[in-house]
Amino acid sequence: MKISASILNIRDPKQEEVKKLCSLDIDYLHLDVMDGIFVENKTWGYEEYKDIIKFADKPKDVHLMVSNVKKYIDEFEDFKPEFLTFHYEAASEVSSVINYIKSKGMKVGMSIKPSTDVLEIVKYLDYIDLVLVMSVEPGRGGQTFIENSVKKINQLYDLRCDRGYNYLIEVDGGINDKTIKDCSKADICVVGNYITKQDYKEAIDSLKTE
Ligand code: DX5
Ligand code: ZN
Repeated sequence: MKISASILNIRDPKQEEVKKLCSLDIDYLHLDVMDGIFVENKTWGYEEYKDIIKFADKPKDVHLMVSNVKKYIDEFEDFKPEFLTFHYEAASEVSSVINYIKSKGMKVGMSIKPSTDVLEIVKYLDYIDLVLVMSVEPGRGGQTFIENSVKKINQLYDLRCDRGYNYLIEVDGGINDKTIKDCSKADICVVGNYITKQDYKEAIDSLKTE
């Protein structure tokens, strides 16, 4: 299981704390981008992130929770992220967004909210590199894991086996040393507060042993 650490609630001084986090055994740095429209909260934009991750040397995993998807793709491509993930619910022309991200040479992630059924996105599964299952309502960190997400992860896992798809399965929201056990069929777990609210190394070690 790979760990993508969300820096949404990272302590101050942010640049230094991100650097510290990157020295540990995490696989990706998860950058949450909220526009105050698709979700109520607004986070840092490209310029602020650029400063915050100045000393970060882990692959970036960008999670766009925004309405104007293409505008943010144009900005965040500058980080050369490993995955650029948009929300299925935010895009009016899903295929066009998928092709847009691909045309820029990036791997495409598509995220679904807790209320969106996996069956709704089946037709896109052959064209994307990653599916991000939201296990909380997108919009803020520190929420409780929604148990029904496990069913969705397992459904995506079975679909991939049965039909030979290649996407990775990522889960985001409310992950800790207990809930990670339920997500064993996911490839990547996004972890925010469980890491940033305690000793980073101890938290990461406890996730890795699960
Ligand atoms: C929520 C974000 C998450 C968040 C996870 O909308 O997408 O990435 O930072 O934080 P925790 O792990 O605290 O739920
Ligand atoms: Zn996220």
